[in-house]
Amino acid sequence: MKKVIVMMAAAAMLFSACCTKQCDTPSVSGVVMENILARKSVRSYNGDTIPAAVMEDLLRAAMAAPTGMDIRPWCFVVLTDKSEYETIFDGNGNMKKFMESGAIIVVCADTTVTRPTREDPDGPAVTRPNPMWRDDVAAATENLLLAVEAYGLGACWTACYPFPNTMAPVKAALGLPETVIPYAVVPIGYPATENTPKDKWDISRIHYGRW
Ligand SMILES: Cc1cc2nc3c(=O)[nH]c(=O)nc-3n(C[C@H](O)[C@H](O)[C@H](O)COP(=O)(O)O)c2cc1C
Repeated sequence: MKKVIVMMAAAAMLFSACCTKQCDTPSVSGVVMENILARKSVRSYNGDTIPAAVMEDLLRAAMAAPTGMDIRPWCFVVLTDKSEYETIFDGNGNMKKFMESGAIIVVCADTTVTRPTREDPDGPAVTRPNPMWRDDVAAATENLLLAVEAYGLGACWTACYPFPNTMAPVKAALGLPETVIPYAVVPIGYPATENTPKDKWDISRIHYGRW
């Protein structure tokens, strides 16, 4: 009898916990947290290609990122050919390890916005700098990496912007317009090795109320 009462109490506690707002969809929030915490940089791949439908999903995730004033400055160049990898790497020894990736997505940003100004919303379209483009493409890049993780793929964010020597061969090889910046080069592939996420939780980085 005692055992039954304990079990009933436990079930009631579980039920009441799951009825609170925080716990509306415990399985979904669990999966999302698991995905975020499992993401890690992967730098060696088995050379397999990535199905087109998966690639489309990865790009869909990237484009779902938040974006200042809803400008959406991102554009993506998808490479699947090793000769194309070589051109953008331009002999950079540090990038050699990414030759076995199934695809490379070059995350780019159009640094300008062309539309009527706020002051004259019915006036002609004007091209002017978008001061928030970096934030937007960084958010898109992280979304992309999380989608990669969700598909059991591996990827690595490699820096392109703001390094002139890294950007130049990418811009030239891809024929990017003047206002389009190659922001990050993201090799993606099926991991060739086990990779463990780093635990970056650091409570000393958090300040409540004030510093
Ligand atoms: C802006 C940025 C630039 C990066 N550039 C490179 C790079 O050029 N080459 C590389 O191997 N990894 C690069 N990384 C990956 C980091 O080294 C990696 O995220 C970091 O060591 C943390 O490891 P984790 O991604 O496994 O959590 C870059 C990451 C960011 C966010």
